[in-house]
Amino acid sequence: MRIAVIGAGSGYMPGVIRGVLHRAGDLAGTELACHDVDAGHLEIMTRLARRMFSAAGAAVTVSAHTDLKAAVDGASYVFTTFRPGGLAARHLDESIPLKYGVVGQETAGPGGFLMALRSVPVLLEIASLTGPDAWIVNYTNPTNIVTDAVARTTGARIIGLCDQAIGDTEMWAELLGLPFEGLEADWAGLNHATWAQRLRLDGHELDLPRLLDDLEVPGGGATPWRDPSRMAELAKTLGFLPNSYAKYYFFHDEVVEELRRKGTTRAQDVLAMLPAYYARVAAEAEKADPDPSRERGGGEHGEFAVDVICALHRDEGRRMIVNTRNGGATPSLDPDAIVEVPSLVGRSGPVPLTMGPLPAPVRGLTQAIHVYERLASDAAVTGDRRTALQALMAHPFVRSKHTAEKILDEGLAAHRDHLPQFTRP
Ligand code: G6P
Ligand code: MN
Repeated sequence: MRIAVIGAGSGYMPGVIRGVLHRAGDLAGTELACHDVDAGHLEIMTRLARRMFSAAGAAVTVSAHTDLKAAVDGASYVFTTFRPGGLAARHLDESIPLKYGVVGQETAGPGGFLMALRSVPVLLEIASLTGPDAWIVNYTNPTNIVTDAVARTTGARIIGLCDQAIGDTEMWAELLGLPFEGLEADWAGLNHATWAQRLRLDGHELDLPRLLDDLEVPGGGATPWRDPSRMAELAKTLGFLPNSYAKYYFFHDEVVEELRRKGTTRAQDVLAMLPAYYARVAAEAEKADPDPSRERGGGEHGEFAVDVICALHRDEGRRMIVNTRNGGATPSLDPDAIVEVPSLVGRSGPVPLTMGPLPAPVRGLTQAIHVYERLASDAAVTGDRRTALQALMAHPFVRSKHTAEKILDEGLAAHRDHLPQFTRP
């Protein structure tokens, strides 16, 4: 079997290699066809992969490609984990909206919108190269918009991933003083806009409202992805668990101030650490038994993706939180919306589980985000400026027509090399 990895030069790749290793028995005989546009980073990561597989005695081979078609050809699974335009483009996504008083974030809001415009054309190209029985397993952000565009406009099979549900469950375990092992939250909604109304430990339903009443809001600062103090404050008011990105909606203006005061974007922070990070990975790849750091992607990111591939391939019917077509999972969103919900993942794809209505305090917000996402997906496919403007105006961060126009015009100009759909004569 062949698994193509598109974006294999990414800093997240050591985690993906670990993920393959942890399922090496199930993947014996697999070829990992690694693709990246950055030949240097691709070389480091494929060297690392070969070393780690041989040190562990894993029967997985590795090939390296800078040609997309060569990598995707004959693949049963196409795992997409690239960032179109790299971190330089992410910096623009994060900084342009901020100039106009809007949160600059790589996946939520106008930053994520600009990323969607770049990601979708590449995903559509990949979908055109993928065989009819193959699965695209997508991490490329914004994962829900990308999944929507591919699912609605191509015949390809796609499943959208995000490790946030795992990371957020871990954060809530810490906050609520519960073990992470055995804890299951029913995260449901849209990617980076999910909510959990039910929590179980070892299969037993916990009294969430009571746990939240008893929760003391911790002090302390936020990291880029964790803001426990605000999360606790929000949850106590809402009465259910919000995902980490909820802070951008409910503390929008405060976050704008903080981002401005901070002075650098997350993209710049990551860019600053990457040269040393790649040097360490390259040095590790020289060792007989490499053990690269977990700085990018943490523990779950890569393992989750490989577990999804194994669940599809081995028809496991395993419960996993993924992005897929709603059907009847929640009546609060259109049946054909791409939602993020617990699903049983087997050979014929994810079967979403019935979650019921989204909680009232965030129902309207989540519906508005869905309307924005659908317009964004349409704009990214067609390159229609008017639809793009409508998408930004529909986003809860923006609303103002003039602000939307400024962000759109500046974004389209800044990213023009990555936007074939908008620059076609
Ligand atoms: C989380 C989100 C991803 C996002 C990533 C960014 O894992 O779920 O969607 O891409 O964080 O992390 P970074 O370290 O690049 O800021
Ligand atoms: Mn994510």
